[in-house]
Amino acid sequence: TKLDMDLAAIEKGGYDHFMLKEIHEQPETIRDCLRGRLLPEVGKIIMSGIENHLEALTNAHRMIIVACGTSWHAGLVAEYMIEELCRIPVEVEYASEFRYRNPIIHKGDVIIAISQSGETADTLVALENAKEKGAFIFGVVNVVGSSIARLSNAGAYTHAGPEIGVASTKAFTGQLAVLAMMALKIGLAKGTLMHDRYLALMQELADIPDKVREILKNTERVQQIAEKYKDANDFLYLGRGYNFPVALEGALKLKEISYIHAEGYPAAEMKHGPIALVDNQLPVVFVATKDKYYEKVISNVQEIKARKGIVIAIATEGDNTLPPMANDTLFVPETDEVLAPLLSVIPLQLLSYYVGVAKGYDVDKPRNLAKSVTVE
Ligand code: G6P
Repeated sequence: TKLDMDLAAIEKGGYDHFMLKEIHEQPETIRDCLRGRLLPEVGKIIMSGIENHLEALTNAHRMIIVACGTSWHAGLVAEYMIEELCRIPVEVEYASEFRYRNPIIHKGDVIIAISQSGETADTLVALENAKEKGAFIFGVVNVVGSSIARLSNAGAYTHAGPEIGVASTKAFTGQLAVLAMMALKIGLAKGTLMHDRYLALMQELADIPDKVREILKNTERVQQIAEKYKDANDFLYLGRGYNFPVALEGALKLKEISYIHAEGYPAAEMKHGPIALVDNQLPVVFVATKDKYYEKVISNVQEIKARKGIVIAIATEGDNTLPPMANDTLFVPETDEVLAPLLSVIPLQLLSYYVGVAKGYDVDKPRNLAKSVTVE
């Protein structure tokens, strides 16, 4: 009915789709996630879920992250964050695999569960099993009061608000923000993170919402690139370090929304297979912001160019080495490499959205996918 249509339009807040609305909400949702927790003025991060269990977390021999889909990608970023800042070994597990292989869980292991819905069946059962074996479970969940939130021994909500689009966007950046605060807080408590780096990272994190807003001003450019490449049959996404999980997430978003086959790979690993696919038809998205891997990624770009591949670069503003090598470039503001995924994922979310729209697909309800997979 007309009324239903009007209501739907109101819910989308003037955007054509929930996915686009949720992408654009990210400056606010990340800010909501940080609010009252991240206090750079006083050099403090307040998270009661961590403070109340500081000993279990700082003394953890190992952390095992259990998740599915996009949440699993957030877990991969957290692996880099926690190993670097807290010097705790981290394993990132697909819940569906973890639950069935009689996982080895020792006293002193901490399980971090990441889930937007808090209802994903595989994640939930994996956690139930781990809890029976005595594991301590820390939940990073969006939906308040959900099954995974209730099962966790402690946790921190992402506060991204309801996510309606099937493809996860704002929940992902909320997860990254929570996981970054966790790593900072635990790293400082453990003494593995120096106080001045801690303060600098806090300030960088506080600046993320404004930088996301900057990126979102430039959607026209993304739209043009989407139009240009929408008929490609395959895409390759490459990144190293903190941007490797972003490459995986970019590829997943494109698959979900545009039904184009896409693969994400660590940029250096491409020589062990995917480079065989490179020809003058294959767009290769390089997530190549300025970090300690930058020079290495540039040589990977050269390898793709030498084989006539098409390069789409996600680059740091002010970079003038990479753009001349790329066919198209999307820029993101500079930040510490630990937080780069919070920015570099945004153009990739937009790219998948605009390719899906250009192809005429229902981006909010992609075929065969469910928002929350509550069956095995
Ligand atoms: C489904 C959704 C994804 C989500 C995944 C995990 O596949 O379509 O967007 O990342 O489930 O869901 P969760 O709610 O546990 O984060």
